[in-house]
Amino acid sequence: MRTPESAMLAGLPTRVEIYEVGPRDGLQNESRILPTEMKAEFVRRLVSAGLSSVELTSFVSPKWVPQLADADELLALLGPLPGRHPVLVPNERGLERATACGVKEIAVFASASESFAQRNLNHSLSESLQLFAPVVSRALELGLKVRGYVSMCFGDPWEGDVPLAQVVDVVGAMAEMGCSELSLGDTIGVATPGRVVELLARLGARGLPPSRLAVHFHDTYGQALANTLVALQHGVATVDSSAGGLGGCPYAKSATGNLATEDLVWQLHGLGIETGVDLEVLCRTSLWMAQLLGRPSPSATVRAMASTLDLNDERGEATQ
Ligand code: HMG
Ligand code: MG
Repeated sequence: MRTPESAMLAGLPTRVEIYEVGPRDGLQNESRILPTEMKAEFVRRLVSAGLSSVELTSFVSPKWVPQLADADELLALLGPLPGRHPVLVPNERGLERATACGVKEIAVFASASESFAQRNLNHSLSESLQLFAPVVSRALELGLKVRGYVSMCFGDPWEGDVPLAQVVDVVGAMAEMGCSELSLGDTIGVATPGRVVELLARLGARGLPPSRLAVHFHDTYGQALANTLVALQHGVATVDSSAGGLGGCPYAKSATGNLATEDLVWQLHGLGIETGVDLEVLCRTSLWMAQLLGRPSPSATVRAMASTLDLNDERGEATQ
């Protein structure tokens, strides 16, 4: 089958924004560094599959993430694209590079745990918030939108449990700093649905409604779709995912791929929720990417759809 039979469930949004992170969260973690032209082709194919929010790359230190060292060249090659196309920025140097490339939205990325702040940003948790504050205020002055990620919201590989009160404090600090959308990261994929609901309730009590939140589940323990469904039932309507289930974080032990966009789209379309995505074109893109990376996609939907597609058919190739 190429499309699910659809039946609605009460209490879900009629449309969900899929925030695609494959070119950033996906490619940052691959040992094979793709040529810039291939990355640009990946983005174009994602956009032509109907994904209107695609995170393009990171303007971080190339010493820390060599996979994305070509961010400036990638943006020059892509030129203007329809839709929403944020990039990750950790500091003022990153913001300068991003604005020089004409970026309209950035994402800063904090951690709910001390250990991951140190490992991912070389700063303590509180130092990292001080690092972001001038970046966010300058970005806002320049008229950019700012998304704020908070990683390790449901557990940390070095510290174990991360107290919800600590998560809420960091998310609150990012909101107060000026981030309009807050993405709740399950960096190592350990969340389960009850915990997701608990965090959303605590954030609501802190004055952060689900309309300001996005969820960012990695699928390490196979819980990402279940977690997504409860988040939707509790009012979240922006979901991060990665084409073909690419992804991870080079600085988080045991972070595997993100929720696969194809698995998410299958579920959403089955629930009668609009996404704007052409699932077949998207699967062709992930199959093409899997070939480039030399390993099969971990997405169940990509694998199931592959057997039904004529792979010599050129649909899904982007026109420049
Ligand atoms: P540092 O080493 O303390 O920084 O790193 P520094 O200021 O001392 O700079 C070190 C070198 O990098 C210097 O070069 C700087 O110029 C250069 P040198 O003088 O040695 O030749 N540099 C830069 N170059 C270009 N662009 C820049 C930049 N900044 C410094 N922006 C820093 C601190 C924050 C820079 C570093 O730790 C870093 O870049 N970290 C990023 C790590 C990262 O990208 N991790 C993955 C993304 S987070 C994630 O995946 C989680 C998420 O998906 C959500 C979830 O799943 O939970 C978002
Ligand atoms: Mg991530």
